[in-house]
Amino acid sequence: MQPTLSTLRVEDLRTTNDAMARCIRLATLAANSDVPIVLLGETGTGKTLLAHAIHNSSARAEGPFISFNASAMSDTLLESQLFGHEKGAFTGAQQALKGKFELANGGTIFLDEISEMSPLAQVKVLRVLEYGEFERLGSERMLKTDARIICATNVSLRDRLRQGKFREDLYHRLNGLTILIPALRDRREELAGLIAAELKASALRFGKEINAIHPAAMDCLMAHDWRGNLRELYHTVRTMTLFCDGNVIMPEHVHFPPDLNSAESSATVVDSNSASPPVRVDGSHDLSLASAVERHLRFVYRQANGNQRRAAKLLGISRATLSRHLRALDHK
Ligand SMILES: Nc1ncnc2c1ncn2[C@@H]1O[C@H](COP(=O)(O)OP(=O)(O)OP(=O)(O)O)[C@@H](O)[C@H]1O
Ligand SMILES: [Mg+2]
Repeated sequence: MQPTLSTLRVEDLRTTNDAMARCIRLATLAANSDVPIVLLGETGTGKTLLAHAIHNSSARAEGPFISFNASAMSDTLLESQLFGHEKGAFTGAQQALKGKFELANGGTIFLDEISEMSPLAQVKVLRVLEYGEFERLGSERMLKTDARIICATNVSLRDRLRQGKFREDLYHRLNGLTILIPALRDRREELAGLIAAELKASALRFGKEINAIHPAAMDCLMAHDWRGNLRELYHTVRTMTLFCDGNVIMPEHVHFPPDLNSAESSATVVDSNSASPPVRVDGSHDLSLASAVERHLRFVYRQANGNQRRAAKLLGISRATLSRHLRALDHK
């Protein structure tokens, strides 16, 4: 269920996972103080959501929440976005514009993808943090801001520092508290509950009466590695709800979005017909146990995207045994 960012508070977040519980505890501390925070987590783990929740639970809740993504922006645009400009400050500046720091006064500024900030942006942001002062482009008037800073990154800033891509002084300024948000695959015990809750919400939204998930479809969801984390989970559950034409989610309703970061890219579509016995040339069904075992092996191997370790785990057999079975199938 998609929470509403403008009202969500840290106290509304629930988990049964230890690492996530720690993350929520730190977020509570963060909301009760004004220290700069770095939210570190893979894409889709909930950094933007947590930044809003911290702001909404803080003493600044009535103030503005201003987001800024500094990656891939020209230096002039970046300066005018962060600090604003006066009319005529540069070609095309037909109106005066307030910058993000000015807009965030009394509230929170959320600097997203901070690790991608250009060296110039890093210098400029550092100056505001050190002195709390800045000028609009084209003006010499000093403006003051009182904005609480929350940053988000999906790569370790310490690594960027070691690579010489991030300024050490800025790193220390920003890093009052780092909150690490665990990846979804590291809190698998929450998967079933999250899927069920979103399925209920999606079915309601799309006017469908879905009351179960077929065990083979559930196996497929549980075996997935969720590189896109919660975003991917919500997307997948929504599409399977749309594809479902009965009351039960079947494996063929489960489509994972292509994973752009992975070599095992292509979307996985599972054919539930593989569960019915194959028809022989004479029209009879092959009901032998060997054929059922073979079909089940192929099915699980496909669910695991050809990953032997994962397939062996799902089957409850050793990897060596699985390899032996697969070799035997290859030679058939
Ligand atoms: N604790 C949570 N409870 C419910 N939904 C959540 C939670 N955390 C994240 N979500 C949902 O998951 C999706 C991804 O979250 P979000 O956009 O905050 O991730 P992100 O880490 O900022 O991703 P990116 O790095 O791509 O910006 C959103 O739809 C958000 O509403
Ligand atoms: Mg985000």
